[in-house]
Amino acid sequence: HTQLRGDQVIVVSNREPYIHEHGPDGIVVKRPASGLVTAVEPVMRACSGTWIAHGSGSADRDVVDRADRVGVPPGHQDYQLRRIWLTPEEEQGYYYGFANEGMWPLCHVAHVRPVFRESDWEAYKQVNQRFADAVVAEARSEDPVVLVQDYHFALLPAMIRAKLPQATILTFWHIPWPNPESFGICPWRREILQGMLGSTILGFHTRFHCKNFMETVDRYLEARIEDEHSTISFQDKETLVESYPISIEWPDEAVAAAWPPIAECRRRVSERLQLPAVVRLAVGIDRFDYTKGIIERLNAVERMLEKAPEWIGRFVFVQVAAPTRAALDEYRSFQERVERITERINSRFSRPGYQPIHLLAQHHEPEAVNELFRAADICVVTSLHDGMNLVCKEFVAARDDQQGVLVLSRFAGAAREMTEALIVNPYHVEETADALLRAALMPAAEQRERMASLRSTVREFNVFRWAGRMLSDAGRWRLRARVEARV
Ligand code: G6P
Repeated sequence: HTQLRGDQVIVVSNREPYIHEHGPDGIVVKRPASGLVTAVEPVMRACSGTWIAHGSGSADRDVVDRADRVGVPPGHQDYQLRRIWLTPEEEQGYYYGFANEGMWPLCHVAHVRPVFRESDWEAYKQVNQRFADAVVAEARSEDPVVLVQDYHFALLPAMIRAKLPQATILTFWHIPWPNPESFGICPWRREILQGMLGSTILGFHTRFHCKNFMETVDRYLEARIEDEHSTISFQDKETLVESYPISIEWPDEAVAAAWPPIAECRRRVSERLQLPAVVRLAVGIDRFDYTKGIIERLNAVERMLEKAPEWIGRFVFVQVAAPTRAALDEYRSFQERVERITERINSRFSRPGYQPIHLLAQHHEPEAVNELFRAADICVVTSLHDGMNLVCKEFVAARDDQQGVLVLSRFAGAAREMTEALIVNPYHVEETADALLRAALMPAAEQRERMASLRSTVREFNVFRWAGRMLSDAGRWRLRARVEARV
């Protein structure tokens, strides 16, 4: 992204890259479970600039603000973090309400009904305006490059554009975009689309989401759509709608060399969970979210043990489920259902010294996640709908021994790139159970072949490729705008 050298970069996301919490021995820093943060953080380390995010930790605000560099993890000091502190009412309406009870189920179409409250919408607008004001306050020129992240900020692009008409605004939508009929139930569909069209570039993970978005605009706004160039002109402003599949930072040799050996990871996990000596170990690592297909995957494990009872005692599934948005009923009752189903399956198949499912409903830091990935024989990603899903890419990156099988939902954006995985329809229990069996039996040579191919894809199409493509498209648009301004 050499075109942007010297330009100021400001990123806006709801989630902050590290969270300061009060611990018994002072402030501790936690890294949140968020695909967005996983992807954007390395990019910000590389381009410096300012990251504006919602302050969410329990540590005192003024302590965190005053000593903003306190406890910043090593290597993460290369950009400024500016936190926006929200009132409880703002957080309730904007984050829990409109973003996570409205937009999240609206865009995921995971059979959870979106909730639209007038008061949440008011809070959402108000908080978007507060973030827009912060961007304007941070801007050192008339034309900064602003990277707006995700469904928390649909209105932000037009709000920034109103104050900084020359800004280059790149908006990336980290979740799916549904078809016009599904999106059309949102009472504020026009406002949301108009807000997003304040962007210079609007990015989605796949062409399919771009197409859905363009059709949605076509249905509900008076805009000119140019399919050929993938642009939308609305009120004399043009927006490029493009797909940029997100990815992870590929671990370089020094990073990978510091990892504990595979056998050591396996030993530690077996010891911690008291696993029987000879087992196939499958892992699932998600936020505790109803879009991730956790129940479908448990049903598949149950079906597998039913179909192939020789695996009872020899197949263990570990599900890490990081608590998330737990203030919402939908999330709490989902968690309870998962717990009940786990108990039921365990009571059916447990034997002395053996339990088929281990549900770990706790936050795990990246090192602990990496240890599980390296210990596992199989990684299971069965999202019912997912923009991209980075867990599957992290699993592949962790396996420098070229072993391990990935079972991946066809409804995750990643399925389009990661075709050497065992691709399943998670709604189809039988098919998923068969894929688990096939994974458990896969010979080492076939694992190596598939894994080597997956690794070369993710290594090449890493997160710098994602950001680089977006920023170089932005660079071209800036040049063009400068030339046009001269005429
Ligand atoms: C998804 C969203 C992100 C969000 C993450 C974690 O990946 O696209 O924007 O940060 O989930 O959710 P949370 O609500 O905890 O930030």
